[in-house]
Amino acid sequence: MSFDLSVIPNKNIVLAVTGGIAAYKSAILVRRLKDAGFNVRVVMTQGAQAFITPLTFQALSGNPVHTELLNPEAEAGMGHIELARWADLLLVAPASCDTLAKFATGLADDLLSTLYLATKSPVWVAPAMNQQMWAAKATQRNLNTLVEDGVHVIMPDAGSQACGDVGLGRMPEPEDLAYQVTQYFHRAQRAIAEKFGLLAGKHVVITAGPTREAIDPVRYISNHSTGKMGFALAAACYAAGAKVTLIAGPVSLDTPNGVRRLNVSSAVQMLDLSMQMLDEGCDIFIATAAVADYRVAEVAEHKIKKAGDELNVSLIKNPDIVATIAGQQKRPFMVGFAAETRNVEEYAAGKLVAKKLDMIACNDVSRADIGFASDENAMTVFFADAYQLEKRDLEKASKQEIAQQLVEAIHDALWHEIEPV
Ligand code: PMT
Repeated sequence: MSFDLSVIPNKNIVLAVTGGIAAYKSAILVRRLKDAGFNVRVVMTQGAQAFITPLTFQALSGNPVHTELLNPEAEAGMGHIELARWADLLLVAPASCDTLAKFATGLADDLLSTLYLATKSPVWVAPAMNQQMWAAKATQRNLNTLVEDGVHVIMPDAGSQACGDVGLGRMPEPEDLAYQVTQYFHRAQRAIAEKFGLLAGKHVVITAGPTREAIDPVRYISNHSTGKMGFALAAACYAAGAKVTLIAGPVSLDTPNGVRRLNVSSAVQMLDLSMQMLDEGCDIFIATAAVADYRVAEVAEHKIKKAGDELNVSLIKNPDIVATIAGQQKRPFMVGFAAETRNVEEYAAGKLVAKKLDMIACNDVSRADIGFASDENAMTVFFADAYQLEKRDLEKASKQEIAQQLVEAIHDALWHEIEPV
């Protein structure tokens, strides 16, 4: 079973590994959690270190591994209280009998048991042990206590065990655990969306309008984009509870209420500001701008004088803004637009893959009644395969209505239940 989403939930998981043969599976679990976009820090008990080394987890998580409570050096990096606050979820996998007993009785004699008491985040345990130890009255008593205390217990699988026994006690496969964790955050996000708006709490960055590529101080290359589509989306995202930054090319539109607007002229400036937004923390990036694909190789310092019947201007390729952002290691959910005049759907689907986007909305700009400059649009929306969503046809409507439907499409892609494949 596997699933692969490029969506970044931007959530922090503390994975605690305790002593048990299943500890090797936790190494794969780190990989799967990272694949799903989580930030992962690993805590290991003494027992866990007898089965697998901290170095393995350090390499896989990209973070130092936490092993001791009273280590001044580690505490100087990220102390146990800070770690407890950092976690959006404390996942203990595998969880040994010993750890369950400590949690149930409130002992705090090592890093993990202290962390358990110090965290306000949800705690999940995935017990893994010999089937007889699992069945033991003391273990079941401790588990009942933990459930009463609000801990989520992931039931072990049944099957043959490393010790030769057959029965309950195997840790579920890493893919299964990572899937359950992802769906938990998706469900939580859906509940937030229901209460506070479809994009509540998200920072959405939108590029809009055309870019202008100077030829000389008085002339430029540009296109017919008016920014109406991008501005309508900015208003819709704000209404859906998002913080919105609009990076606008030269257009003459009023800034939508509540939206932060940053004006640019050229594609290079638009890219620079877009990259800065990543440093600020951007969750969703929507590229509605009609960016000039080429710019003049050498912009003349002074107005070019009329001379002769021909004027040759050499052009060089502009950076692809949306593809550059999508190519970053820590990337937002990426929405592209496609303006086509023929083979609309085929070209749009190609751009979805080529630019590594999560979603693309395409419009036929050969039609005079929609697309550039018009107050209305009609679009077909495609999602990357990982989202398991059918393409959507958005019938001709005002750009405001289309924007609202695009917000819904983004929300659905981000937080819907995904079947493992
Ligand atoms: O502004 P309006 O008048 O309301 O018109 C709206 C619109 C027609 C401009 C809009 O709906 C639209 O289709 N925008 C995308 C236009 C476009 O440039 O499409 P494209 O197929 O050339 O580019 C594909 C995607 O790559 C787009 O998301 C574009 O923003 C992005 N891109 C393209 C080139 C480049 N150098 N950098 C980019 O980021």
